Amino acid sequence: MTKEHYISFIVYITNDRCEIVKLYPEQNAEARFLKRGKGIIYIYCNKDGLIKKNI
Ligand SMILES: [Fe+2]
Repeated sequence: MTKEHYISFIVYITNDRCEIVKLYPEQNAEARFLKRGKGIIYIYCNKDGLIKKNI
């Protein structure tokens, strides 16, 4: 990631939980979550906006 184009945060939402990982431009674009079954992942990029992925 670069200071001009980076992922700001990643959120994993399931039925009863919401887990968020804040990312910074100096980091790699990755995060780890405990597997909690079906849910939704939201990824927010400062240029491309919010991306939703059902898992
Ligand atoms: Fe992007």
